[in-house]
Amino acid sequence: MRLDLLSLVSCALATTALAKSNAAAAAIADPDVNGKYWIYGDGISAAFIPYGASISDLVVNDQYGIPRDIVAGFDNATYYGIDRQHPHFGGVPGRYANRIKNSSFELDGVTYHVLANENPTAAHPDGLDTLHGGPDGWDFRNFTVVSYTNNSITFSITDPDGKEGFPGEVISYITYTLGNMTWDFKMVAIATTKKTPIMLSSHTYWNLDGFANNETQSALNHTFYLPYSGQRVGVDNILIPTGDILANQRGSVNDFWSAPKQIGHSFSDPEIEGNCGFNCSGYDNCWLVNREQEGAYDWRKDGFVARLQSAWSGIQLDVYSDQEAFQMYSCNGQNGSMALKTTQGLTDNPDFPRTIPKYGCVVLEVEDWIDAINRPEWQRSKKQVYEPGGDPYVLQASYRFGINSTATPF
Ligand SMILES: *[C@@H]1O[C@H](CO)[C@@H](O)[C@H](O)[C@H]1NC(C)=O
Ligand SMILES: *[C@@H]1O[C@H](CO)[C@@H](O)[C@H](O)[C@H]1NC(C)=O
Ligand SMILES: *[C@@H]1O[C@H](CO)[C@@H](O)[C@H](O)[C@H]1NC(C)=O
Ligand SMILES: *[C@@H]1O[C@H](CO)[C@@H](O)[C@H](O)[C@H]1NC(C)=O
Ligand SMILES: *[C@@H]1O[C@H](CO)[C@@H](O)[C@H](O)[C@H]1NC(C)=O
Ligand SMILES: *[C@@H]1O[C@H](CO)[C@@H](O)[C@H](O)[C@H]1NC(C)=O
Ligand SMILES: *[C@@H]1O[C@H](CO)[C@@H](O)[C@H](O)[C@H]1NC(C)=O
Ligand SMILES: *[C@@H]1O[C@H](CO)[C@@H](O)[C@H](O)[C@H]1NC(C)=O
Ligand SMILES: *[C@@H]1O[C@H](CO)[C@@H](O)[C@H](O)[C@H]1NC(C)=O
Ligand SMILES: *[C@@H]1O[C@H](CO)[C@@H](O)[C@H](O)[C@H]1NC(C)=O
Repeated sequence: MRLDLLSLVSCALATTALAKSNAAAAAIADPDVNGKYWIYGDGISAAFIPYGASISDLVVNDQYGIPRDIVAGFDNATYYGIDRQHPHFGGVPGRYANRIKNSSFELDGVTYHVLANENPTAAHPDGLDTLHGGPDGWDFRNFTVVSYTNNSITFSITDPDGKEGFPGEVISYITYTLGNMTWDFKMVAIATTKKTPIMLSSHTYWNLDGFANNETQSALNHTFYLPYSGQRVGVDNILIPTGDILANQRGSVNDFWSAPKQIGHSFSDPEIEGNCGFNCSGYDNCWLVNREQEGAYDWRKDGFVARLQSAWSGIQLDVYSDQEAFQMYSCNGQNGSMALKTTQGLTDNPDFPRTIPKYGCVVLEVEDWIDAINRPEWQRSKKQVYEPGGDPYVLQASYRFGINSTATPF
């Protein structure tokens, strides 16, 4: 295990060294006119931008052979920094993804305060908590492209000591690679000067119909399956973990483990109300990935942790990952104010405006248990807190695409 981690890091470092030593000889190729770096695999292509090390486009063919761009984003890299709504489209939230209760945490007896940026009140105008690393978290910043080939791209960021209130410098490398209908990523982060919390993720918005479904604009007919997730993190009405781990009883709204079901399946159950916070119906929840009973497992081979599928396009996405939690957000906060990319949607149907409606997408996030830095009773500090000389933070995932037009009955 440790060897693996070290080889990952030395690989990331070697990549940079290589990039530097080759800089004079072979400069990194320029992005396209829209500022996007395209890479290619078999049956798949994708584009990435330095802003947040974000994925901006991902194209695979549907069951009829029609290319579909199935991730939300903008048409050009420049717009990511201009758009004020900032929905974290396709980026890497960091240095600590999801929410930090009361924008504070304690390490070795010292309380650290980080910048708040969510749930403002009169008494706390900046907010009651910190979401995705603060108001200038990693997915608001341009990463550096350190390596770029036909099928892979590596970004790096140096997050300075004290930025957003976090202790110590963190250096991170994010590598995305396309293969045969696969999108793989590795995220490595190293605490270089002080002990600090680190938790990353990929915050990608999916619509497996490329927003071109001519029967419904919503993604509530997508089928979702979390085979290892009989439990979830309990949260209060602003989605801050309470510390309680809850059971997803068979047939309950948060049961996606006993069988695959459509995301909208439980929307008539009264328990869906408030399931994603105050006055919110839908999902924005963190499920645990319980694989211990399998004994030693190989996350690359031994089963996906999540599956998302649309019978309309027939596109199926299986998520393999080494992470022990999984967040799914059903785009409850979308309201038609985000335009689709020119590569998406229907062009000739007034019933289907070229915007993302409420429930029009699904965000999938591989991650660790959210806000575990404030939950010492969960005993996850090894997965959440990093220090100079210790193991690096590592996240790995493999997103595998295929065609499966089997409908899950509503
Ligand atoms: C890039 O990869 C794609 C898919 O594997 C291949 O079709 C294409 O020829 C490659 N391009 C170059 C310049 O190697
Ligand atoms: C950049 O993309 C945004 C949003 O996708 C669009 O509104 C804008 O017109 C584009 N700008 C250029 C120069 O293409
Ligand atoms: C980030 O990159 C975008 C385009 O790729 C550019 O428009 C913007 O100015 C950059 N921002 C900073 C702070 O460098
Ligand atoms: C929340 O943080 C503030 C300082 O920012 C502190 O005074 C207060 O005690 C904290 N509240 C809780 C419940 O931890
Ligand atoms: C991609 O995978 C499919 C099925 O697993 C296989 O049939 C095909 O030959 C592979 N393509 C390449 C170029 O390896
Ligand atoms: C809806 O889309 C499907 C799949 O692309 C296509 O076969 C069908 O003709 C379309 N129907 C209409 C009314 O456009
Ligand atoms: C609850 O949400 C609905 C629809 O999203 C909205 O119309 C209503 O104003 C909200 N109520 C409160 C008290 O926020
Ligand atoms: C839609 O949501 C955005 C982002 O949350 C918000 O700025 C905007 O005011 C909302 N528009 C409407 C009509 O509710
Ligand atoms: C296709 O989807 C159905 C329904 O979700 C599922 O039962 C089946 O296992 C899937 N087939 C493959 C090959 O993934
Ligand atoms: C799609 O979802 C709606 C509810 O959101 C449901 O009424 C309908 O039956 C579903 N369609 C299919 C084909 O399953």
